[in-house]
Amino acid sequence: MGQTETEFAMAHIGLVGIGVMGREFALNLAEEGHSVSLLDRTLAKSEEVVVAGADLTGDLIACADEAAFVNSLPSPRSVLVLVPSGKPLDSVIGALSPLLNKGDLIADLGNSYYKDTERYVAELEAKGLMFLGMGISGGAEGARHGPAIMVGGSKDSWARVKGPLQDASAKFEDDPCCDWFGPGGSGHFIKMLHNGIEYADMQMIAESYGVMRDGWGMDAKAVGDVFAGWMGGPLNSYLVEIAAEVARADDPKTDNAMLDMILDRAGQKGTGRWSVIEALHLGAPASMMQAAVEARNISADLEGRVAGAAAFGAVDRGDAGDRAGGIAALEKAMIAAKICAYTQGFEVLRRASDAFDWDLDLAAIARVWRAGCIIRSVLLDDMSEAFEEDGARRLFFAPKFKALMQENAEALQSVVGMAVSARLAVPAMYAAMSYYNASRTETSTANMIQGLRDRFGAHTFERVDAIGEDVGVKVNGPWHD
Ligand code: 6PG
Repeated sequence: MGQTETEFAMAHIGLVGIGVMGREFALNLAEEGHSVSLLDRTLAKSEEVVVAGADLTGDLIACADEAAFVNSLPSPRSVLVLVPSGKPLDSVIGALSPLLNKGDLIADLGNSYYKDTERYVAELEAKGLMFLGMGISGGAEGARHGPAIMVGGSKDSWARVKGPLQDASAKFEDDPCCDWFGPGGSGHFIKMLHNGIEYADMQMIAESYGVMRDGWGMDAKAVGDVFAGWMGGPLNSYLVEIAAEVARADDPKTDNAMLDMILDRAGQKGTGRWSVIEALHLGAPASMMQAAVEARNISADLEGRVAGAAAFGAVDRGDAGDRAGGIAALEKAMIAAKICAYTQGFEVLRRASDAFDWDLDLAAIARVWRAGCIIRSVLLDDMSEAFEEDGARRLFFAPKFKALMQENAEALQSVVGMAVSARLAVPAMYAAMSYYNASRTETSTANMIQGLRDRFGAHTFERVDAIGEDVGVKVNGPWHD
């Protein structure tokens, strides 16, 4: 709660890695009054930041090498590292840690894999150093004016940098969107899952664009207007806002809609894929993130798609039905699908918390995502309240979200049904619908799975009519008599 200037003294911290994010974050910290020593492989980059931030309150100090950097910092030192994860991070830590003293702190603000973070914590703490793994979200704009920050590591390390980081973070009604969540790699795990949800959110937006473009023949501007209209309801979010902007923009080179000139081959750096892999390890459904990752994989294979169109002919779109009623249904379908995506995402976090003993506070995570990060949306405040009321309850069972599902799930069924008939690809919405339907099915078909497992491998099953002591007892079927 606004615990910034009054509670914390101005800090002098180090920042390594003056790429776009590093530069913007250094300026942000200096604007908040903190002094920042800067280190990059190229001194000129640090010097540029010093010039750019000349009018800001905090001092910006360009350092020529590691020794000058370390000497410039007051003890105990706090060093933020903003370089790509993997080898670049390894080499920064390798070069800096021998120069640091016991009690000095390194914080990694990259999108690191949480198990790497756990390794760094163990290695550096064994040397008497401190290490924090923190996810930072919001792109360059966020880094400059207030990102969301998800921190993991020891509480002592967190106490060291809490002041400047909360000062620089986004605020939701004065509440800093920067918090500590647990030990080791928990901060990076939460950021990874944030990105998994980001993938699902973006895929749903792309699917609704596809329904409008290929189902109803709408041009990019008309699609942008629909997205802009959604900003008046529960879909109000940063991603929908920028989807409207992207869809409405013109290409200065051709005067066509910019969107029509963007090659449909999606990139990915790995956090979405990691989210799905971790969810699978934890046994938590993450079908919407998986659909999003797979859609990006298929999009990336442009040659394969061209060959497919040549072999089988272009998809016959069929009839996508009435546009006006369809657009209203699409908004409702998106609301239901979005709630399913967040329900899955938070359930992955809950499983991770149990499996790794992290004791994650889901309400606090939702709170930090309310501003600054890419998935910020009006629904996140309600999500934080839902988890505050009952942290053990699945998100879509909370009264507000249950009501939204009851109001909108039928539209999800009808939009997916229409899309399937019109041969429009809506894998994330389809995954949402299946997840919702499966989640309310008391009598599933897994009795057949169990029967087959027992028949071929004597894996046993439980009986539906077991009572008393027999509940939970595993038996074989008659095929083994
Ligand atoms: C953020 C973003 C940011 C970035 C990711 C995803 O929260 O600011 O998630 O971290 O966009 O790296 O990138 P890809 O889509 O390339 O995987």
